[in-house]
Amino acid sequence: MPAPRPGRVVIAEPEIRARIATLGAEIARGYAGEPPVLVGVLQGAFVFMADLVRAMPIDLATDFVRIESYGGGRTSSGRVRLAADLATPIEGRDVLVVEDIVDTGRTLAALRRTLEARRPRSLRVCALCDKVERRQVDVRLDWVGFTIPNVFVVGYGLDDAGLYRNLPDVVALEGGSAARRVIGP
Ligand code: IMP
Repeated sequence: MPAPRPGRVVIAEPEIRARIATLGAEIARGYAGEPPVLVGVLQGAFVFMADLVRAMPIDLATDFVRIESYGGGRTSSGRVRLAADLATPIEGRDVLVVEDIVDTGRTLAALRRTLEARRPRSLRVCALCDKVERRQVDVRLDWVGFTIPNVFVVGYGLDDAGLYRNLPDVVALEGGSAARRVIGP
C-alpha cells in the first residue's frame, strides 16, 4: 500500500531522478582533483544525498552534520545548533554541502560560517530545492536542483513534524501540520 500523500505533487519522482542525473554529472566535473567531502545535512538531505552520490562518477567521501534550526515548527527560529558534528577533518579539503531546501537561508549561512572556520580548501553548496522568494540572508548556492514557490513541501527526505520523508515525490503540504492531524484535536 502506498504511503498517504498529503497534497499536490510539486516535483514528481521521475523529474527528481532526471535532474539529479544531470546535476551529479555537472558537479562531478567541478571536482577534477582530490576527492571532495560531501557533507549531508541531516535529516532532510539523506534521500537526496543517497541519490546524488550515485550520480557522481568520481571518487568522493561522505559525512553528515545534524542541525537543529526549526525545533519542529515551520518557520526558521534564526538560532541554529550543530546537534551532531562531522567525523571528518575538512581542513584543506574540497567540501560540498548537500542541503535539502534553502528557505530564509539562515541555517545554511550559519553552517557555512562553522565550516569555513575549519579552513577547507573550497566550500560549495548544492541544494535540492530553493525557495528563493523567502530568502532573508544572502547565501551563495553553487548548484540548485529546483527553484520552488513559497509553499511548505514534504517528501523525498523533507518532513513535517518528522513525517512524510519516505514519499518518493516532493509534495505541497495542504491543510495543517501532520502533528495536529495525527495527535491533535
Ligand atoms: P532556513 O534556515 O529558513 O533556510 O531553513 C532551512 C531548513 O528548514 C531546511 O533545511 C529544512 O529542514 C527546513 N525547511 C524549510 N522549508 C521547508 C519545507 O518547505 N519543508 C520542509 N522543511 C523545510
